[in-house]
Amino acid sequence: MPPAENEIVSRRGFPLRAGAALSHHDGDLALIASRPGSVAPRAGEGGGKVQANDYDSFAEAYSADNETNLVNGHYERPAMLALAGDVHGRQILDAGCGSGPLAMALRTRGATVTGFDSSAAMVELARQRLGEEAELHVADLGQPLPFADGAFDDVVASLVLHYLQDWTGPLVELRRVLRPDGRLILSVHHPLIFKLMNPEADYFALTEWSDAYTFSGQPAVLSYWHRPLHAMTDAFTAAGFRVAVVSEPPVSAETPRELLPPHLKGRRSFVSFIFFVLDAN
Ligand SMILES: C[S@@+](CC[C@H](N)C(=O)[O-])C[C@H]1O[C@@H](n2cnc3c(N)ncnc32)[C@H](O)[C@@H]1O
Repeated sequence: MPPAENEIVSRRGFPLRAGAALSHHDGDLALIASRPGSVAPRAGEGGGKVQANDYDSFAEAYSADNETNLVNGHYERPAMLALAGDVHGRQILDAGCGSGPLAMALRTRGATVTGFDSSAAMVELARQRLGEEAELHVADLGQPLPFADGAFDDVVASLVLHYLQDWTGPLVELRRVLRPDGRLILSVHHPLIFKLMNPEADYFALTEWSDAYTFSGQPAVLSYWHRPLHAMTDAFTAAGFRVAVVSEPPVSAETPRELLPPHLKGRRSFVSFIFFVLDAN
């Protein structure tokens, strides 16, 4: 299913086509989306009657969209793979693995990948993708993880940490399961996104915000925690990590031209996510 078939309707009533770019103040700068076509309600707005972050209820629609859309398929996932580099022979944990597209790509490159996600429906889709032999768990990143100390060479965490209010325990836990020379490679919403979409909001405050969607006619709300950049890096170092790379990459070179919103005027970089490589030691 091409992403443009998902009509996204914001809580402010704007019908939005997937792939639209939405920042009203910096339309030439930002692409606001964890998936295409999203729009952020004002800071503090909730999602009406729809339960937030209920990935179980829209797992298949989300997974199909994520596969080929601009922000996941041609921007976030290629960037994570580029940061991971040569993973042949490495033991990798995919935290918040969703339906397993990154795990699959890493496995294709020669890694042995274990995955977990808090959504049982997403884990089931990952199992269908990766096969019965794959080690997959339903587990919550906010809780102690079912893995031994030092079990992994790398942890990848694509677009999951921004669902958590408190990063302290999760980061300590992710470092625990890494070997001493291991790496945590992660992506989250770029902290500018929240401020661009909510000019009246306090950039420096830890703030919950929501994003409303319909996936194939089904309403969905995702609720995130904004934190300023320094709060991210402070949390990393407090957990014992060293920040090795901060990345704001362009879309992949293979991105089909028609997926790039016209307002970018051919530019291949925009503000959407921020990527980090953290050394465990
Ligand atoms: C935006 S999706 C990304 C999925 C996958 N990493 C990818 O890039 O395709 C976020 C995923 O994080 C999962 N998630 C959210 N909160 C979580 C938590 N506390 N523990 C584990 N997984 C979580 C969701 O169920 C969902 O599958």
